[in-house]
Amino acid sequence: MKPGPELPAVNRVTRHAVLGDLEPLREVTIWFEDRAVKAREGEPILSALIASGVGILRYTKNGSPRRMFCGIGRCTDCVMSVDGVPGVRTCVTAVRDGMRVERQEGVGRWAGEDGRDGA
Ligand code: FES
Repeated sequence: MKPGPELPAVNRVTRHAVLGDLEPLREVTIWFEDRAVKAREGEPILSALIASGVGILRYTKNGSPRRMFCGIGRCTDCVMSVDGVPGVRTCVTAVRDGMRVERQEGVGRWAGEDGRDGA
């Protein structure tokens, strides 16, 4: 899998203009490929990845990189392999401590699937 260019990590919002001071949430760890990523319990996978500087989320079958687009589960630009299941929309899927997230190419592969690549 091709590595994606990384983005600078960002600081998390602790005070919101409308909501005021935000309660700190329990921290969990997910794995993005071989890297431990700190996440806030219950937040979307995509939020944790962006906050840690992950830019490219997947590649199309033609090798075009994709980043977040809609952020509301309507497109497929954020789909990734999560715990061996390809095609998971990471913008609407909450983190779980210890989960493993990987970029996918095309439609991805199921864990343990032979070397057949997606279309
Ligand atoms: S960014 Fe569009 S479905 Fe996640």
